[in-house]
Amino acid sequence: MIRSIIVAAALAVSVQAAVPQNLDVIKERKQTMKDNGAAAGATAKMLKGDAPFDLATVQKSLNTFISASKKMPSLFPDDSKTGGDTRALPAVWADKADVDARFAKFGQDATDALAAIKDEASFKASFPPIFKDCGGCHEKYRAAQN
Ligand code: HEC
Repeated sequence: MIRSIIVAAALAVSVQAAVPQNLDVIKERKQTMKDNGAAAGATAKMLKGDAPFDLATVQKSLNTFISASKKMPSLFPDDSKTGGDTRALPAVWADKADVDARFAKFGQDATDALAAIKDEASFKASFPPIFKDCGGCHEKYRAAQN
């Protein structure tokens, strides 16, 4: 009995290791997040005063976040847990409902900010909370390093 459980467990492990992973989808989600990173970088500079406030750039960044928030939930199929230098943690699949809720909140916060931001003062008030959505999710669901 115990022996057959061990054999079954060993088989399960080797079968799982042999499942071909969907590297394209891993690439796509990493690229989507890279675009978020570039959009966040452009606006972080303005927040720090290292670049002049530019409403069009802020709106472009927010639209990048909104489209990423819609796309991301479908980019974690079961065959994309490993490989392709992914830093997504197993927790993503263990608690996918929370991840999806976080993407929805991220999209909603960006949509609200898009409506609220008219000038530099409203930008400084409405933009920073979005970075908490990024950081909060990464803390739980992204490995610090490969
Ligand atoms: C609800 C979760 C969630 C939110 C919100 C989120 N991210 Fe991510 N992010 C991830 C996960 C998971 C990964 C790891 C993806 C992988 O390696 O497969 C990641 C990866 C990244 C990466 C690394 C991409 C690469 O080169 O591999 C960057 C940069 C990034 N995110 C920026 C951002 C920024 C900026 C925001 C906010 C504007 C943000 N993310 C919001 C979950 C999130």
